[in-house]
Amino acid sequence: MAQKRLLSGMQPTGILHLGNYEVLKNWVQLQNDYESYFFIANWHCLTTMQDRTDQIIPNTRQVAADFIAAGIDPVRSTVFVQSDVPEHAELHLMLSMITSLGWLERVPSFKEKRENLGLEDSVSYGLLGYPVLMASDILMYRADAVPVGEDQLPHLELTREIGRRWNHTYGELFPEPVAIVQRVKKLPGLDGRKMSKSYDNAIYLSDDADTVWAKIRNAYTDPLKIRKDDPGHPEGCTVFALHQAYSPDVDIVESECCAGTRGCVACKKQLCERINIQLEPLRARRNELISNPDELDAILKDGAARARVVANDTMQSVRKMMKIG
Ligand code: TRP
Repeated sequence: MAQKRLLSGMQPTGILHLGNYEVLKNWVQLQNDYESYFFIANWHCLTTMQDRTDQIIPNTRQVAADFIAAGIDPVRSTVFVQSDVPEHAELHLMLSMITSLGWLERVPSFKEKRENLGLEDSVSYGLLGYPVLMASDILMYRADAVPVGEDQLPHLELTREIGRRWNHTYGELFPEPVAIVQRVKKLPGLDGRKMSKSYDNAIYLSDDADTVWAKIRNAYTDPLKIRKDDPGHPEGCTVFALHQAYSPDVDIVESECCAGTRGCVACKKQLCERINIQLEPLRARRNELISNPDELDAILKDGAARARVVANDTMQSVRKMMKIG
């Protein structure tokens, strides 16, 4: 039986951190069971980075290296950059004609961005259309399954809605993609808030062992635990929160801290070792890809060529069924 098709993407808004790595680990597993397409959504970045476009190419390369170093196999899976498959823009235009403004205005991420970015009066047409571009990414490959975080579910619902309306208007072409909701560990950053590039509190896949140590050494801990043998309060401690994600023996960490038999420096060293155990296997491959641009270029070129075979096929049907040439 033919394998079902799976697609997912990430925006190259920055280099990837441990929280993003949890998502990638999930993709690495899924590629065993699906014909998989993983891409870097560089056009989506334009909705919020239109004044910092110089960062998009460098970030895209870093993210591509992270995908592969994390274990996405570019031979079995198709790894590509969105803008290398310009058919996405054509489908986006076609789909925009059958997408209701009302649907788009109700998308929660749109409402949030409009409010948070203080864009009330200056929302771009592109930002409003973000979910239409995403629908074109997904429908282009006639994907059956789309692994996404919970925050992306409204976008997927809209994708199904757009696909249904297209099929109803022009004939059956697009299957309804289902979401595979990724329940990944929520990682705290070094300051206890959610790990995020924008809070400057993240540990990156590109950090070497010394950098990881420098970050953890300075992480915020229990302010009441001044001496090594003072009893600690793990519930407010960032280092403990990270132990919860990385230490199988977190119960021991907790009881030793509370009993005052574990000093903060030793506790931080142990956490650092455990994070480095995760990162060490991907460091060599990552460095190789970053220092050898030809190899990364070749992988992305091959990925784009394979993606375009499917994209061309879809677009031929779309144009024919829409009687547009
Ligand atoms: N919107 C997604 C995010 O920010 C990225 C994305 C763009 C995507 N196109 C996609 C994810 C298609 C899945 C499928 O995380």
